[in-house]
Amino acid sequence: MKAILLRDLGGPELLRLEDVADPTPGPGEAVIRLKAAALNHRDVWIRKGQYAGIKLPAILGSDGAGIVERVGEGVDASLVGREVVVNPSLDWGTDERFFGPNFRILGLPDAGTYAQFVKVPAENVHARPAGLSWNEAAAIPLAGLTAYRALVSRAKAQAGETVFIPGIGSGVATFALLFAKKLGARVLVTSGNEAKLERARALGADGGACYKDAGWVDKIRELSDGQGPDVVIDGVGGETYAACIDLLRPGGRIATFGATTGPVPDFLTRQVFWKQLNLLGTTMGSPAEFAAMLDLFADGSLRPVVDRAFPLAEASAAHQHMDEAGQFGKIVLEIP
Ligand SMILES: NC(=O)c1ccc[n+]([C@@H]2O[C@H](COP(=O)([O-])OP(=O)(O)OC[C@H]3O[C@@H](n4cnc5c(N)ncnc54)[C@H](OP(=O)(O)O)[C@@H]3O)[C@@H](O)[C@H]2O)c1
Repeated sequence: MKAILLRDLGGPELLRLEDVADPTPGPGEAVIRLKAAALNHRDVWIRKGQYAGIKLPAILGSDGAGIVERVGEGVDASLVGREVVVNPSLDWGTDERFFGPNFRILGLPDAGTYAQFVKVPAENVHARPAGLSWNEAAAIPLAGLTAYRALVSRAKAQAGETVFIPGIGSGVATFALLFAKKLGARVLVTSGNEAKLERARALGADGGACYKDAGWVDKIRELSDGQGPDVVIDGVGGETYAACIDLLRPGGRIATFGATTGPVPDFLTRQVFWKQLNLLGTTMGSPAEFAAMLDLFADGSLRPVVDRAFPLAEASAAHQHMDEAGQFGKIVLEIP
């Protein structure tokens, strides 16, 4: 098969299309002929060598949608030919609260979806939501799952509450926006550019600010009745996380899933205990959460935000686009 192989760490130009052996399904596994894959920032961290446990060469990619081609021993043969999306949360384990010792994310160490075929446990294969294109279906898995667990399971956002999502151009952030609006929450966002704030408003965001303006924290506070948001869903980290602690109203919750801009400079402990805040950590999600998240797309009322699609062979251009934070939503790879 054709696949994008990462042999060395560094710039996006290192992602090259090569011929590699087709995967063969072992017991309990299914091989999917992929129609589309999608990028996550994880792929960029790995490519740059800023991720734990890197083994090269690697086929990156946690998101994929396609048609089941073959199944291994013990798997229902009627799965062959089905249109599916893949849950990239492998071997989560039995505890809803956190993953077990064998947990892995598809796309390192297991070969990922920047390829014509991918092999996954059959239990990680779910029916493609009707009415979504291949590109839309492939955009969902990792970011949709992360946003769902952060917003619904961890922060327990409620209708009528104000949810603040910094850096709305992020794949995960766009899903958090869709899900929060579906729940009936008010949503405030930030972005590095006005055009993305406009796109967020078109998706239902109730207000926003540009994080490059010095006054963004005050503006978000103002937009949340001077009290601050009830809930923050943050993957930005760094100074933004500290600002969110400052912004949250007393009793507020922050679910954090990433640190794109680096470590938190000053933890503001006094604010945390005085305002009785709830600091929540979250990563990916369980099989039950993946199924519940996918159900939100079943009636066709929600569509993932696809920024742009590149052919698989142009994965390096797609990475460049993510390096420059050019995207609003998910960057997709179309697979021949
Ligand atoms: N723990 C988990 O399970 C998990 C899962 C998924 C992702 N993550 C992590 O979460 C982060 C986001 O992932 P992703 O795939 O959604 O990334 P992405 O699509 O590449 O989005 C990154 C976004 O960060 C925003 N940003 C950059 N600098 C910022 C700043 N100073 N203030 C506010 N926003 C800023 C930008 O938003 P604008 O474009 O609006 O300017 C940019 O689009 C990454 O660090 C990733 O590793 C963790």
